[in-house]
Amino acid sequence: MGKSSAYAHPNIALIKYWGKSRDHPPNLNIPTNDSVSMTKESINTATSGIDLLTHTTIEFSEQYNEDTGFLKTNDPLIPFNEIQMKRILKVVDALKQSANTYLHFKMISQNKFPTAAGLASSSSAFAALATCTADALNLNLDKIELSKYARLGSGSASRSLHGGFVYWNKGNSHDTSYAEQICACNEFNIAAVIAVIDRGKKEVSSDVGQEAAHSSVFNQIKINESQKQAIEIKKAIQDDDFTTVGKIAEKNCLYMHSVMMTSEPPLFYWEPNTLKVIKTVLNTRRQFFQTYKMIEKGIKQKEKEGIECYFTVDAGPNIHCLCRTEDLDAAQNMIQNIGIPEKNIVRVRQADYGSKIVNEHLF
Ligand code: PMV
Repeated sequence: MGKSSAYAHPNIALIKYWGKSRDHPPNLNIPTNDSVSMTKESINTATSGIDLLTHTTIEFSEQYNEDTGFLKTNDPLIPFNEIQMKRILKVVDALKQSANTYLHFKMISQNKFPTAAGLASSSSAFAALATCTADALNLNLDKIELSKYARLGSGSASRSLHGGFVYWNKGNSHDTSYAEQICACNEFNIAAVIAVIDRGKKEVSSDVGQEAAHSSVFNQIKINESQKQAIEIKKAIQDDDFTTVGKIAEKNCLYMHSVMMTSEPPLFYWEPNTLKVIKTVLNTRRQFFQTYKMIEKGIKQKEKEGIECYFTVDAGPNIHCLCRTEDLDAAQNMIQNIGIPEKNIVRVRQADYGSKIVNEHLF
């Protein structure tokens, strides 16, 4: 028992988790539908200043007579507030119970990208926390088991234990609601370009937003459709069928945002620039399929125009443009051409690991 550190990458949901099942205790974060994601890492850290990674260190010791947690930023350490500590304790206390210990801890966590700005910082934060806590407590848990503990902090964190593509089975109990890998990194050719519309902290946390999901008349439709889409997209990922994955992911994102916008109170995460990117993605794709058809019919001899791309947006204004790996440059140009500066563009590839233990400690 002692000190341990872990890294974890965030994930982008292709089928979204939005809302807890009302049939189970809310603290378990059992979702209303299965969800699917890609664990991601940034390629152009130098230009964007964004490294999609969380680094967390935890130490259990008799020298501590209370539990403390701090966020490491460029400034001095910031103690986690009461709400944040409560979420951290949900994960740590559950693991402490498994390890049968009452020791207190000190924890420091560092997100190398904006926290709570719709870049899924909670997914990597709680995946890293579950991983290093279990290790520090000498619990020998596999990734599926760890995903159940990460879920207690943040639902989407359950998917950040694994690299590549991940499926979170909603389940119907703590033990049956877990995430597993669909396929490893690079077995399916897809990448993304994120347009960072706003680096600031979002006004409404996903926790608060999700509570209101049940008040939308579209919620049940979204749940039923998402459940079907999760199964369909899993197959399309395994078949390397980018068109089907893109179409389903985009539809599912719109279902979730329709629920948000029609909840009570209504919730709009999009900013004008989010919509600008959405329209650009749709136009560029239309152009791609038009020229593609013309080339097929022999009407046009030219090289393809446009690119095949799709969008998805989590709980924030920032938008992911999904494309094939070979189209990353074109996707970046498409977004820069509408006035989003290069420093606000993050090129993303699949991460080969979700979370892992590292020797580098933050204290
Ligand atoms: O894990 P939470 O409670 O932060 O919720 C995540 C919600 C979305 O990012 C919008 C969707 C998802 O499945 O990741």
